[in-house]
Amino acid sequence: MRFISKVAGLAMFLLLLTAACGGGSSPGTGGASQSSGGPQSTAAEIPSVAQTSPENAKAFGAATARVFVCNGCHTADGIAAAGPTWKGLYGKEETLDDGTTVTVDEAYLRESILDPNAKVVEGFLPDIMPTDFAERLSDAQLDLLIEYIKVLQ
Ligand code: HEC
Repeated sequence: MRFISKVAGLAMFLLLLTAACGGGSSPGTGGASQSSGGPQSTAAEIPSVAQTSPENAKAFGAATARVFVCNGCHTADGIAAAGPTWKGLYGKEETLDDGTTVTVDEAYLRESILDPNAKVVEGFLPDIMPTDFAERLSDAQLDLLIEYIKVLQ
């Protein structure tokens, strides 16, 4: 079983890698109306697989975070790096650099990924996180990353 899940994980990693590269060359607009098939439509099926269990969300989410090098700045184990850790992030009260707080929900995660400087976390610097993920992430990859962060409790 362990071996099989490792192989499945590797296959998914390669799939996401292909999807990431393919996504770069296609315009980010259009979203759901894209009907070109290929990696885009394959990647669209991943979030539903990820939602079948927290283990799947973790495996596919971690692979996606590696493809986009999110893990260069964010950890899943509670230790802050250049960016805040994702462990325990979902549902917590996040304090922002203007002293206000916000409850971390899906909408906040989405905004933090697509427009990182819209709300800056206290104790961290603005203009560090890349601001082009809106163009680089497919809808499916974004959903998967959010699903992943949600299960990292
Ligand atoms: C070069 C470093 C870097 C990379 C790469 C990066 N981030 Fe970030 N991220 C940051 C920093 C710094 C912050 C805190 C400042 C802010 O709020 O924008 C942050 C904030 C966040 C937050 C809000 C965290 C909180 O505690 O409220 C989320 C969610 C997030 N990033 C997701 C991602 C995802 C998903 C990716 C990959 C697709 C990614 N980041 C890639 C540096 C990075």
